[in-house]
Amino acid sequence: MRPLRFLLAFLCIGAAFAQQPPPPRPSAAGQTGGPIAGLTSVDLAAYRNGLESFRQVETVDSGLGPIFNDTSCIVCHNTGGPGGASGRTVTRFGLTTNELFDSLAARGGSLLQARAIDPAFREVVPREANTVTRRVSTPLFGAGLIEAIPDATLLALAAAAKPDGVRGRAALINDVSTGTQRVGRFGWKSQQATLLAFAADAYVNEMGITNRFFPEENAPNGKAALLARADQIMDPEDHVNPTTGKSDVDRAAAYMRLLAPPTRGTVTAEVLEGERVFHSINCTACHIPALTTGSSPIAALSQKRVVLYSDLLLHDMGSLGDGIVQGPAGDRDMRTAPLWGLSLRPSYLHDGRTSSLDTAIKAHDGEAVLSRNRYVNLSAPQKKELMAFLRSL
Ligand code: HEC
Ligand code: HEC
Repeated sequence: MRPLRFLLAFLCIGAAFAQQPPPPRPSAAGQTGGPIAGLTSVDLAAYRNGLESFRQVETVDSGLGPIFNDTSCIVCHNTGGPGGASGRTVTRFGLTTNELFDSLAARGGSLLQARAIDPAFREVVPREANTVTRRVSTPLFGAGLIEAIPDATLLALAAAAKPDGVRGRAALINDVSTGTQRVGRFGWKSQQATLLAFAADAYVNEMGITNRFFPEENAPNGKAALLARADQIMDPEDHVNPTTGKSDVDRAAAYMRLLAPPTRGTVTAEVLEGERVFHSINCTACHIPALTTGSSPIAALSQKRVVLYSDLLLHDMGSLGDGIVQGPAGDRDMRTAPLWGLSLRPSYLHDGRTSSLDTAIKAHDGEAVLSRNRYVNLSAPQKKELMAFLRSL
């Protein structure tokens, strides 16, 4: 019976995903796509184990679906090495009436699961949705350093006076992994504070793998009757190994935590000039060059400078907002995108709308409008220097 089920799963799913490129190979320690330098052998083993979970292709037997977006983490996170960004987008939708946003949760919103283990269960964007947007996947390089930045640092940044009328809000969210209120810093809307919570969310929402934090499946477009027919595997599907006490959610989180930050490109005289331009037009009001981690039991993450070029805060970006209300983030609020590793990004902005840095900067609006206008007024040589700087990150 097992081989038959496997064959069926292969026919349903394998055919649709057969064109996926082979996953990239991990790099050496301290390099982009490899483990962070200076890990103990125990942490290095956790990194390697986690990478296995991260690249594991889920099947109907392992709990995939009934609705999902893809079959492994690495399919959407691979550019520049395992854990990178990709051009893959997911769809968010909702209904906005008189500036009030309804995530249409009862209809399966706001995240669409575009695929299903059986076409009969496939979700569609409900007809009443009038806000529909895409979100591109983000890179995970250095995610453990971002996780280790204390909440207090982000709260202080939010409270600090900033130039150009820039405000910035800390995203206060409830962290499912600890049951405490924390400052969000992951995702385009700073919707999660910890890698464990993000992993648990991604397992259930991108792959349909229920886990101890999210034990319930998403019903296709909210239809419980369909779910009852579709879902044959006992929840939670993410099994805890009785010996280690860990499941895929833990292992994937550990992997991301131990990923090296992106390697900086060559710093030429032009790059240094570009960095001066970046400061002089106040891009740094939001893209803060570096923050420092707090103390961590993992020495490689403890009291480290994190050169991420972001304050991780939510900013009202005016017309660049994505129209989706998510947790404390309003429809126009977006997290300052970290700019490290920019040269490895296949596309820019939350919906991946452009591969031109010039277009991405010109799309800045709302709190960023003065800085954006100064960019527009730069001389051609200054713009060239700024681009060289951004591409070196
Ligand atoms: C279908 C594609 C897809 C799959 C599969 C997927 N992701 Fe993602 N990932 C995304 C997208 C899109 C975003 C940005 C989402 C957002 O902010 O709403 C993202 C963002 C993230 C982030 C936030 C990083 C940051 O910039 O702050 C983490 C962490 C993450 N994913 C982990 C995972 C893990 C772990 C898995 C596997 C369990 C996974 N993802 C599977 C598409 C995917
Ligand atoms: C008010 C805060 C703010 C200021 C000022 C600001 N940015 Fe941004 N920046 C953001 C936010 C928020 C995003 C994410 C936008 C989105 O959701 O697509 C972003 C995204 C970007 C991106 C795309 C990154 C990616 O991952 O797709 C680049 C490049 C960038 N900014 C460069 C600049 C430059 C250059 C300046 C100075 C001219 C600047 N920014 C000024 C907040 C700001």
